[in-house]
Amino acid sequence: MSPQQPQILAIIGQGYVGLPLAMAAVDAGWTVIGVDNFEVKVTQINSGSSPVEDVSDSQLKAALSKGVYKATNDFSSVSQASVITICVPTPLDDKREPDLALLRSAAKGIAPFISNETLIVSESTSYPGTLRDIIIPIVNKLKPEASKTVYFASAPERVNPGDPVWNQKNTPRLIGSIDNASQTRALAFYESICDAAVSVSTPEVAEAAKLLENTFRLVNIALINEFTQLCAASGINVNEVIGAASTKPYGFMPFRPGVGVGGHCIPVDPLYLTWWARQKGTRAEFVEFAASINQQMPMYVANRALSLVDSDIKNPKVLILGVAYKPGVGDVRETPVSELRDHLVTQGADVAWHDPLVPMWDGSKPVDLGWDCDVAILATNQPGVDVEKLISKGVQILDCTNSIKNLNGVTSL
Ligand SMILES: NC(=O)c1ccc[n+]([C@@H]2O[C@H](COP(=O)([O-])OP(=O)(O)OC[C@H]3O[C@@H](n4cnc5c(N)ncnc54)[C@H](O)[C@@H]3O)[C@@H](O)[C@H]2O)c1
Repeated sequence: MSPQQPQILAIIGQGYVGLPLAMAAVDAGWTVIGVDNFEVKVTQINSGSSPVEDVSDSQLKAALSKGVYKATNDFSSVSQASVITICVPTPLDDKREPDLALLRSAAKGIAPFISNETLIVSESTSYPGTLRDIIIPIVNKLKPEASKTVYFASAPERVNPGDPVWNQKNTPRLIGSIDNASQTRALAFYESICDAAVSVSTPEVAEAAKLLENTFRLVNIALINEFTQLCAASGINVNEVIGAASTKPYGFMPFRPGVGVGGHCIPVDPLYLTWWARQKGTRAEFVEFAASINQQMPMYVANRALSLVDSDIKNPKVLILGVAYKPGVGDVRETPVSELRDHLVTQGADVAWHDPLVPMWDGSKPVDLGWDCDVAILATNQPGVDVEKLISKGVQILDCTNSIKNLNGVTSL
């Protein structure tokens, strides 16, 4: 199949997924309209300041100045597009169940402006049936009468923000559509911007595959987190064990322990799966159990850190290093470090934090490494944190990231 001739692409949502996609499409020759309903972000982007680490200001400025990209909050601009991709958040509600309000509002926002023969693709992560049962009925109800033919596909985004190797271009893209005509167009579109587009038989297969991928990570991280507690209780270094097991050339894949799981994907997507299972009258008990193991990790880490402090100190001062959910990004969504901080505070600790990529967190500001503490917890190995400075001051460190090797004063998780 020959790639689609680049024309105008509209991307709904200009965040961690939408903005890098916009730049990848610009590189492939598309003219891109980035629609976002958050006006402050639209203004920031149009001023040439990128809100995400995977897009540099210079890359963004180049696209803006060539006139091949602009951000807007005007949904009517999608009428110019031959392809519209939806990249809005799919979080959990306060019952920890799928919250598709933003996805619904994005579908409602674009529907009245869709031109005839437009391809609509959902890239947002959600449970199987979301494209067919939620997005398509909204669009079909609200689209202009003249737009008789609209094509629909699901192509869940797999991007891993901050990853130096895998990006929008070289990560194979799964594509499942509602009919052959939609699939032909969706494959041609993604072949124009990605190295490999992989066809699956339905949107539901693509949606389910995305949940499987992230649930696979959740359960393996849970296994290692449980195994870590067992090793620590037995005086065995779990990271050495993982390294040893990794020498097996087949059938084993290393996962590392940590404070828990965070971000918009690993703690969230498996709960879309468990909810979906319940809707089908069944249970995903294995996944539920894995999620609960990971949720216990912040308390385990808090207890391990406090065990390093002299028991005479009633209100130990604890410095948390790295509060983003993973290294290289400033993203604190669902970070397990929130729970860690809360457990420490509940146990009487005076807690401060340091993270070069996070200027503000939960209404508080970071401290510098000179902050006097009884113990430090390396929760996320952010670039630019001078851990050796703390070690040279004699501060005890609990390393949850397996990044400090063989140094006195450092305890591994
Ligand atoms: N962040 C990741 O690592 C990642 C990776 C793969 C898939 N995903 C999935 O991609 C989707 C988007 O995630 P993200 O991390 O890019 O989110 P994000 O919060 O970084 O960006 C989403 C953007 O959408 C905008 N928005 C929200 N509702 C809107 C609406 N109705 N109309 C227009 N704009 C709207 C927000 O203002 C925001 O700028 C989610 O389903 C997520 O699960 C995320």
